Amino acid sequence: MQTEMPGDNYGLREEIKAYWSARAETFDLSPGHEIFTHKEMAAWRRLILKHLGEADGRLALDLASGTGVISHLMDGLGFQVTGLDWAEPMLEKARLKAKARQRPIRFRMADVENTMEADDAYDVIITRHLVWTLVDPAAAFAEWLRVLKPGGRILIVDGDFVNVTRTERALKAVAKILERIGWLKPDPMHAPPGMMEAHHSIVSRVHFSNGARAEQVAELVAKAGFTEVQVDTDLRDIHKAQSRHWNALKALGRGTQHRFAVTAKKPIASEG
Ligand SMILES: C[S@@+](CC[C@H](N)C(=O)[O-])C[C@H]1O[C@@H](n2cnc3c(N)ncnc32)[C@H](O)[C@@H]1O
Repeated sequence: MQTEMPGDNYGLREEIKAYWSARAETFDLSPGHEIFTHKEMAAWRRLILKHLGEADGRLALDLASGTGVISHLMDGLGFQVTGLDWAEPMLEKARLKAKARQRPIRFRMADVENTMEADDAYDVIITRHLVWTLVDPAAAFAEWLRVLKPGGRILIVDGDFVNVTRTERALKAVAKILERIGWLKPDPMHAPPGMMEAHHSIVSRVHFSNGARAEQVAELVAKAGFTEVQVDTDLRDIHKAQSRHWNALKALGRGTQHRFAVTAKKPIASEG
């Protein structure tokens, strides 16, 4: 079990938890967080089926489930879902949705680096937009390997939210000019004001402070003991479906970002 001491990133973990707790209220307003269209839902479903296979009532763990967007998606596919997150306001939102939909999704407060779940408990693990903000991804991946059944599969969906591509920078500059002269409507910002600074400060201290790159994530996943590690950068369907929510320049810029999925399998002892 992990013990946190002052000076051992305890403060950073508390800051991350507080940050997401404060983001919970407006989190679902942002395209890219909540899924707003059938087209986007279908694209997510295809990605999940491609990497995790048919649900068939199997047990799924959604790590850092936030407001439960992915948990509900997995439930809709026919998985029996548990969502873990350490921000209570996020969990509250997720539970309210489950109540409204009358779905038996279990949402628990836990640190994904120390889930308190049993060994070999889940058929599949899914996690979206978490790895980039982990303090200790190696510890997290070892923990995820532990709770996955032998032969079980993991799907990590993430991105590099630090490095801005040249094209995106140029598009942002043009958008700024067009907004100033009133030719382009600014995209609404859904994060509460003043949170950008907290975000930058946190990002500068997490493991992937230089941005989470697919190959680095895949390497750590393999090091933790997973096999059949693969990187999938073909998320075009999802991004295309999301792009209608932004102005054309922002949509183009987002298309240039390094976003990816990493999938892997927990080896079966006899295969080793
Ligand atoms: C960007 S949100 C993503 C939420 C959700 N996965 C989604 O895609 O809609 C990041 C989430 O990770 C959670 N989180 C970050 N680090 C965590 C940790 N160590 N343990 C549990 N939750 C964590 C935050 O509380 C927050 O809800």
